[in-house]
Amino acid sequence: MSEDTENNRISSRLLLFGATGDLAKRMLLPSLFALHEDGLIAEDLRIMGTARSELTDDGYRALAAEALSEYLPEDRKGNGKLQSFLDRLSYQQLDASEVLGFEALAQKMGDISGGLAIFLSTAPSLFEATIAGLKSAGLTGELVRIGLEKPLGNDLVSSGVINDAVARAFSEQQTFRIDHYLGKETVQNLMALRFANMMFEPLWNSNGIDHVEITISETVGLEGRHDFYNDTGALRDMVQNHMLQLLALTAMEPPANLDATSIRDEKVKVLRSLRPVKMEEMVRGKYGEGAVKGEAVNSYEDDLGSSSDTETFVAIKAHIDNWRWQGVPFYLRTGKRLSERRSEIVIQFKSVPHNIFADRGGKLNANRLVIRLQPEEYVRLQVMTKEPGLDRDGVILREVPLDLSLTQAFAKTRKRIAYERLLLDLIDGDPTLFVRRDEVEAQWHWVDAIRETWAANDIRTKTYGAGNWGPSAAIALTERDGVSWHE
Ligand code: BG6
Repeated sequence: MSEDTENNRISSRLLLFGATGDLAKRMLLPSLFALHEDGLIAEDLRIMGTARSELTDDGYRALAAEALSEYLPEDRKGNGKLQSFLDRLSYQQLDASEVLGFEALAQKMGDISGGLAIFLSTAPSLFEATIAGLKSAGLTGELVRIGLEKPLGNDLVSSGVINDAVARAFSEQQTFRIDHYLGKETVQNLMALRFANMMFEPLWNSNGIDHVEITISETVGLEGRHDFYNDTGALRDMVQNHMLQLLALTAMEPPANLDATSIRDEKVKVLRSLRPVKMEEMVRGKYGEGAVKGEAVNSYEDDLGSSSDTETFVAIKAHIDNWRWQGVPFYLRTGKRLSERRSEIVIQFKSVPHNIFADRGGKLNANRLVIRLQPEEYVRLQVMTKEPGLDRDGVILREVPLDLSLTQAFAKTRKRIAYERLLLDLIDGDPTLFVRRDEVEAQWHWVDAIRETWAANDIRTKTYGAGNWGPSAAIALTERDGVSWHE
């Protein structure tokens, strides 16, 4: 059987590790509630939470009710389905570092012959012990699949250790590595845009495209994750996963069809074609004090409470060495405490070969396609048009957006958060939007080489004022190619 059909039965049990943590409260429980409310999960699906805290079933239901009241949007509350959702929940206290407790967990879980989906969002240091515990208690095998939340290691070697440990109990087909960006609607829409429309694909290569920009900017700072973030930095927190997945979906060849194997085969080819980055093609930054959205904020080191050279910003000029993309730079940038929150992909097309309006004063800008993922969702194509008039003083051409606002076009459709999609796919056994091991390894391979270059050349962070778009060197990175970041 192919990896797409081998494990596609729907599970009737869901086991959440890290069930009292921040992700569970903010994302997982609200997502599961939304799926329940919309009748998208089977009547018999039971959800069991597990974590270190000592809680009864009712205690966990109370925790879940509180999380829902805090994190569900107002219009989703109090519609009569809360109790039936809470009735699905149960809880088992567990110290995942000890194999002993897993037996009791399995006992309480009961019959898993209807299939079990596990979601692991605990510290990676617990992964190996957790897998061993699951195995010893019979919570592995072909009826079980496992979802793994990042971070899965912090370089190729450590991610390999985790992946090997997982592989001792679960086949690749049963392993669902989560990158929550793949659950975002506009990210999936990128494939529809590229492969359901005739007009883009013939130009989607080095003949038609001058360069691509991918930005994920955030206004938030450390958000209480001091140790994790300081050990990780922007390159590993954002580029290694989310940004490279966006790059892969933007750059991949048309897949043979929509199944998981075909799509992931195409993505991994792109990731393996990434050229090692030269020292002068990247910028590391760290926020100093400044003002974000009108509010004064501390520097990174003040937020952290110690000195540090961890980057909170990174900009990279990436190249994909294949036929389609020869000579087309992909500029990537991401950072904390930037000017605004924005995730977008910008496709800058080439200029027309000859400007017939030049003699009449008409100036042309090349077409640009902006795919905005958040906070708004839209696809906007900048096209040149003539300003209305009798043109006695020459032809005035202007850039006008051809706008497809997804928020407006689908105003009646509820906007779903990424985890709704990913949890449902995990329960249903569809691996398409999860990251395969070879993709993760290609991502780490490229990112590790960047970190080695930084270390070998002692590349330090450049400070930028919070509320700006990163260090001035990030602007110079594109300006020296005659390119401006889309702002
Ligand atoms: C996470 C990172 O993976 O993605 C965070 O660890 C970051 O540092 C977050 O804030 C951004 O996700 P989103 O969906 O808000 O863009």
